[in-house]
Amino acid sequence: MKASAGTRETWGSSLGFILAAAGSAVGLGNIWKFPYITGLNGGGAFVLVYLLCITIIGLPVMLCELTLGRHTRRNPVGAFKALSPPSSTLAQLIGAILVFAGFILLCLSTWGWAVTMLLLGAAIFRYSWIVVGAMGVVAGFTILSFYSVVAGWTIGYIWKAVAGQLGFTTVAAAASHFVGFITHPGWAIGCHLVFMLLCMVIVVRGVQAGIERWSKILMPVLFILLVVLIIRGLTLPGAMAGVRFFLSPDFSKINADCILQALGHAFFTLSLGMGAIITYGSYVDKKQNIFLATLSIAGLDTLIALMAGLAIFPAVFAQGFEPGAGPGLVFQVLPTVFNQIPLGALWATLFFLLLMVAALTSGISLLEVVTAYFVDERGWSRSRATIVFGAVIFFLGCFSAVSVTGWERIEWLHRIILAVFGTARGSFFDVMDNLSSNWLLPLGGLFISLFVGWVWGPAKAVAEIRHGSHNFADVHLISLLAGLKDDPSHNSDVHVLTLASIWGFFIRFLSPVAVLVAFLYTIGWLQF
Ligand code: PHE
Repeated sequence: MKASAGTRETWGSSLGFILAAAGSAVGLGNIWKFPYITGLNGGGAFVLVYLLCITIIGLPVMLCELTLGRHTRRNPVGAFKALSPPSSTLAQLIGAILVFAGFILLCLSTWGWAVTMLLLGAAIFRYSWIVVGAMGVVAGFTILSFYSVVAGWTIGYIWKAVAGQLGFTTVAAAASHFVGFITHPGWAIGCHLVFMLLCMVIVVRGVQAGIERWSKILMPVLFILLVVLIIRGLTLPGAMAGVRFFLSPDFSKINADCILQALGHAFFTLSLGMGAIITYGSYVDKKQNIFLATLSIAGLDTLIALMAGLAIFPAVFAQGFEPGAGPGLVFQVLPTVFNQIPLGALWATLFFLLLMVAALTSGISLLEVVTAYFVDERGWSRSRATIVFGAVIFFLGCFSAVSVTGWERIEWLHRIILAVFGTARGSFFDVMDNLSSNWLLPLGGLFISLFVGWVWGPAKAVAEIRHGSHNFADVHLISLLAGLKDDPSHNSDVHVLTLASIWGFFIRFLSPVAVLVAFLYTIGWLQF
C-alpha cells in the first residue's frame, strides 16, 4: 500500500509496523541510557521499579496512543483536535490547578517555573486538550536535540573502530579517550550533524520506503549481536558480581529521585508521552491487532533493555569498573570487552554501527512527530518541514553537544537558566534530558490516559481497538489464561474481567494515580 494523492500512507505489513514501532522504542534508551541510569541508581531495585512502571503505566498508555493515532489518522495535535469536545470540565480543572500552582510558586520566588505553570494553565484554558499534542511536539524537539548528540558519539565510535583506535587494554584508558572525544567540540558537533542529516534523509522519504524498510532488516541483527556480547560478558572471570548487581534488588537504594527516573525512563524507552506512538499509530490500518502490537512492542523493548544490562554489567564488574560511571558507561566498557575477543575491531565496528541504527530508527520517530504536525496541520510539504525543523533541532542540540561534562563553553546560558529557574542540575545536556524524560513525557502520558479514560471515553476507544483484534478485547481473562479463548461458551456477554475492562480501569485510575504519586513524591509534597 503506497500513499496515493489524498490518502494517508500506511505501513506495508503488520510485521513492518511492529518492527518500526519497536524500532522507535528500542534505541539509545535501551542500550546506552538504561544501563547507565541503572548503574547510577544502584542496580536491581531500580530495575524492578522500572519493570513495574512499564507494566502498570507503559502498557496501558501505549494502547491509548496507538488507539488515538489509528482512530484519528492524525499527528498528536490533530488527534486531540479531532476528539476534544468543545468544552471539557476536566481540562478546565487541570488548567485551574496549574494556574493555582503557578501563583503559589510565584510567592516562593522561583518565577521561571511560576511563569511556565501560568502559561501552561492559560494555554489549557484556551486550547483545552490540544495543548497535550503541542507538548508532544515540543518534547520531540528537546529530546531529539540531545539524543542526536549521543547518537553522534556512536558515529564517531564507528569511525574509531574501523580505524583501529579502540584497542584499549584498561577501562581507564577507554574512559579518558571517551572524555577527550566528547569534549572536542568539532567532533561532537560534526557527528551530531551527520546523525541529524541521516534522520532528515529518511524522514523526507516517508513511512514505507524509509522507516519501515530499514527497521525490518536491522532490528534482528542487533538482537544477534547482543547475544554474542552477553555470552562474552558472562564468560569473563568475575562476571557474576555484575549479574547480581543487575538482578538482585537492594531496596535501601530506592529514593524519590530513583522512582522519578524509573518512571521517566519507562516513558522514554517506550517512546511514550509525546505522541510518537500516536503518529506511528496513525499509519496503521484497521486490520491490525493493536492489542497484540502493544504487547509485542513493549515486550521487545524490555527484552532488549534487559539483554543490554546483561551484556554490560558482567563486563563492568569483571573489569573492576565503576557501575555508576554515568553517560559514558557503554562507550567506556564495551571497547575493552571487544578487545578481548578475536576480531575485536570488527565486532566493535558492528556494535556501534547497530547502536547507531537503533538510534536512527528512534531519531526518525522523534523527527516524524514534528514533521507530521507541520505537514498535517500547517500544510507544509514533507521535505520543507523536515529540513527546516531538522535544522532547528540541530542548532538546539549544539548546546548539548558542547556541554555534556559542564557549562564552561556556555557559561552565559548557565547564568540565564540560573536567573530564571533558580537551579540547573548537571550540564545543559542533563537539563534537557531531565526536563523532557522525567517531566514532559510522564506529564504527557498522564494527560493522554486521562483524556482517553475520562474525556474520549473507554467505550469509544475499545470500539476502535476491536478492529482487527478478533474480540481480543472482550475475551474473559481467565478463559484466555486457561487456553479456552476460542471456546464459544467462554465468551459470554458478561464483560467482567476482560482485557478491555482491565485496561479501562488502568487508564482511568491506576496509571494516572501512579504518575501523580511519583510526581508529588519527587517534589516533596508526599512522603512515605
Ligand atoms: N524510545 C527511544 C529509545 O529508547 C527514544 C524515544 C523517546 C523515541 C521518545 C521517540 C520518542 O531510545
